Amino acid sequence: MARDGTAGTGLPPYFNIDPDAALAELDPPTGTDGFAHIAEACARGRADLASRGLNEEGRKTLRLFSTWEICRYLIPVAQAHFRRVLRQNPDLPQGRSESPGGAKWFTLDEVLRLRAFFGAQGSKAKNYLPWRPEGLPAKLVAVANFKGGVGKTSTAAHLAMSAALDGYRVLVIDLDSQGSMTSIFGGQVEDEWGTAFPLLARHYAEHLREENRIRVGRGEAPLPLDEALSTALEMRAADVIRKTHWPNIDLIGAQLNLYWAEFQIPVWRMQARSWKLWDALTDRLGADGVLDAYDLVFIDTPPALGYLTINGLAAADILLVPLGASFLEFDSTGRFFDMLHATFASIEEGENMAARALGRPGMAFEWDAVRAVITRYDGAQQGELAALIQAYMGRTLSPHRQDFTALIGQAGEQVSGIYEADYRDFNRETYARGRETFDATYAAFKRLLLGIWRRDEKTAAERAVERA
Ligand SMILES: Nc1ncnc2c1ncn2[C@@H]1O[C@H](COP(=O)(O)OP(=O)(O)O)[C@@H](O)[C@H]1O
Ligand SMILES: [Mg+2]
Repeated sequence: MARDGTAGTGLPPYFNIDPDAALAELDPPTGTDGFAHIAEACARGRADLASRGLNEEGRKTLRLFSTWEICRYLIPVAQAHFRRVLRQNPDLPQGRSESPGGAKWFTLDEVLRLRAFFGAQGSKAKNYLPWRPEGLPAKLVAVANFKGGVGKTSTAAHLAMSAALDGYRVLVIDLDSQGSMTSIFGGQVEDEWGTAFPLLARHYAEHLREENRIRVGRGEAPLPLDEALSTALEMRAADVIRKTHWPNIDLIGAQLNLYWAEFQIPVWRMQARSWKLWDALTDRLGADGVLDAYDLVFIDTPPALGYLTINGLAAADILLVPLGASFLEFDSTGRFFDMLHATFASIEEGENMAARALGRPGMAFEWDAVRAVITRYDGAQQGELAALIQAYMGRTLSPHRQDFTALIGQAGEQVSGIYEADYRDFNRETYARGRETFDATYAAFKRLLLGIWRRDEKTAAERAVERA
């Protein structure tokens, strides 16, 4: 062994590697079974980690919120006034303290009840309750980019949490079979039947049933409706929506098997060419009342432009595209928009050819807004590049840059991100800065949302006048 290696020689470590010594360390070649062994070891490790990060029931719990935090971030009243109102209304949640006379802490459920009370009783000049125009459906927000690691899941999760803290009713849909978003919200999904898959399957099955009616009418044999499709016909969104540890965030989770949809959807489409696969998610969420039951639906997508992402993007009203201020991410984001154009233009072209032949008006996809968002921003290093990206992307790039913050990585196993972390675990300064950048990300998003809702409200009012 003396000839092997460079320890003590001052040479870089890749010189003087002896092939025989390298061979002595080598394992036999790996077959397919090797993957199973590795996967099995990982699964055991994961179960171990999960059992440490989760509480005894195997479920996540949300921390409590202090009077200071409530008055600072959630209900805009002075602490003294807040305490006075609680004293005067003994039926309201009174919170609990960790030591006699110590600060009072509340669950988010209690905060939401308190906010409703202040909203009903308090000054009308203050925005206690978040605005949504009456009678208009929830807005769907997809977060997408075909590059991985750009902050899609973090952005979607933080926006979902800030919207929930703001009082909106939120549904999160995880379309990434890696299930990161699902883990953040503590979801444990058995198989694809607990994901969005059955909703897509039901959409196809209904299409097939309709098509079969026509076939039978023409004297042709119906296409087979297999067992899976028959099962899907019985399923509603409520069957796959699960509660999370957040009282006003629900989840349609993902799991590895969801990837199966990428193989199944093209097979269905081959069978029934007229099936509008891109409408599947939108139609099912609408039909099952999801757009009335929630205010906002956040869709996290995989780092690919596959059928699931196409479904998520087609369902979306608002499209957010996170990217880092680096050359590689800017470059690939540009190509992502190119792919979006090619994909959706080819769907429109295919559809409109048929529509024109039938003398019907064509279809066109439309999004209320598309915004690129700079994530993990380091002002000291990336200012110049970010300014250049801003100059070229113009209004498509959100003017707010989401700073890099160590708080995200530091938050620990049980909590995900800034809003779940207890501020007492951090230096106040660090906490305030970390929270500020995600609050500002949410503020930029909310501004966009409220503008869009107002536009919809005005359009609806104009239509009503035209009809009258
Ligand atoms: N603002 C931020 N500051 C620091 N780290 C971040 C920030 N946003 C995301 N990250 C980290 O970057 C990595 C990739 O983020 P993620 O949201 O999983 O990306 P994607 O969903 O696009 O793959 C994660 O480790 C995440 O913790
Ligand atoms: Mg992700």
